[in-house]
Amino acid sequence: MPKTLVAFFSKSGRTKSAAETIAREISAPLHEIITVKKYPRTYLMTILESRKEFKRNEKPELASPKVEDFASYDRIILGFPVWFWTCPMAVVSWLGQYDFSGKEIFPFCTSGGSSCDKATAKIRELCPGANVHNGIKANTIDSARIREWLKS
Ligand SMILES: Cc1cc2nc3c(=O)[nH]c(=O)nc-3n(C[C@H](O)[C@H](O)[C@H](O)COP(=O)(O)O)c2cc1C
Repeated sequence: MPKTLVAFFSKSGRTKSAAETIAREISAPLHEIITVKKYPRTYLMTILESRKEFKRNEKPELASPKVEDFASYDRIILGFPVWFWTCPMAVVSWLGQYDFSGKEIFPFCTSGGSSCDKATAKIRELCPGANVHNGIKANTIDSARIREWLKS
């Protein structure tokens, strides 16, 4: 059984809930990616704030502690909301903290409709040494789907 971590970023709780379901299903530890800055409460203000980050390629500073003994994990399940068709810059900040060479990454997202494809491509670009599996949209997720996906 590969040693697995479920890491996630979530602004309003939907991705967090999916991450909790996945972690519970496979009995893996959960790691929340938290930014130092707090994103605005409203959807519209968050759109404006995060659009600035994307435009400037600005990686927000993280408040979450680094994952202990990261090197010992074989498999990282990484969840986030789709922001502007891709992963939020907080995820880019997080990916920059570690060496993913030789690891497997399983991305998942929640979204208003967009797929995880563009984010998966970005993660492949950012982690060239990792085996990045096709990401899934996990707006709804259940035990059978989780198990099938992790076999892919
Ligand atoms: C800044 C921002 C950008 C978004 N961009 C998209 C998008 O491009 N495509 C989409 O389907 N949903 C988009 N959404 C909706 C979120 O992906 C969706 O509500 C997600 O499930 C929220 O997850 P969370 O509760 O874990 O934060 C966006 C939301 C925000 C706040």
